[in-house]
Amino acid sequence: MLSEAEIDALGEDIPLLEGMRTCRAIRRLKPDPVPRALIRKVCEAGTFAPSGGNRQPWFFVAVMDAERRAFIAQRYREAFHSYIAPAIEAARDPDYPERKRRNMQAAIHLADHLHEAPVHLFVAGWTRRGQPQYQALYPAIQNILLACRAVGLGASLTTVHRAHGDEIDAMLGLSTNTPSCALLPIGWPSGRFGRPPRKSVDEVLFFDQVDEAVVSSS
Ligand SMILES: Cc1cc2nc3c(=O)[nH]c(=O)nc-3n(C[C@H](O)[C@H](O)[C@H](O)COP(=O)(O)O)c2cc1C
Repeated sequence: MLSEAEIDALGEDIPLLEGMRTCRAIRRLKPDPVPRALIRKVCEAGTFAPSGGNRQPWFFVAVMDAERRAFIAQRYREAFHSYIAPAIEAARDPDYPERKRRNMQAAIHLADHLHEAPVHLFVAGWTRRGQPQYQALYPAIQNILLACRAVGLGASLTTVHRAHGDEIDAMLGLSTNTPSCALLPIGWPSGRFGRPPRKSVDEVLFFDQVDEAVVSSS
C-alpha cells in the first residue's frame, strides 16, 4: 500500500521527453488495485491540457466497481472482435508483419481481459451545437497517458466501446450532452515500458515545404 507521500512523489522525477519516448500502449495489466489518489493524480495531469477557449470540456469517470467493469468489458469484447476479424484473417498470411501481429495480439489480450483491468477510465466531454467534440479531449487524454507512464501505471487509448457508447454512457450516468470519447484501461503493467515502434522523424519532418513525392505516394 502506497503512502500519501509516496503517491505525491511518484513520477515527479522522470524527464518529460524520456516519458514521451517510452509511453507505449500497455495492454497487459495486473488485476491488483490502484489507489484512488493515483487516479486523481493522473487525471489532474489531464486537467492541465489546452482546450478551445479554455473551456475544459472534460469529465473523467474512473470505474473501479467489478460488476460495472464486467458490463463494459462484455460490450467492448463484442465490438472489438467484429472490428478485428478482418485483421485476424489477414494475419493468417505468413508474410504478415511480425510487429503488426504482436500489436494485434496485445489488443486481443486487452479485449479478452478487460474486465480484469482494475480501472476503466472514461474521458467524456460536453458537446457543442449538438456535436461531440472528441478532438477537444485528446490533449487531456494524452496528458493522462503520459502521467500514467510517469507514475508507472500501464494504460492505453481505446475507443471501440463507442460501438455500444450510448448504453455504456447511460450506465456511467453520462448524457447525450456529455458522451464518452475514450476508455483508458489502467493498471500496474505486466510487461515493461519501452520505446514504441515509430517512423523516424526524418521521414515525416520537412522544412518550409513537403517533399511532393512523399505525399503523393500512398
Ligand atoms: C484514436 C485512437 C483509438 C484507438 N482505439 C483503440 C482501441 O479501441 N483498442 C485498442 O486496443 N487500441 C486502440 N488504440 C491504440 C492504438 O492501437 C495504439 O496506440 C497503437 O497500437 C500503438 O501502440 P504502441 O504505442 O504500443 O506502439 C487507439 C489509438 C488511437 C489514437
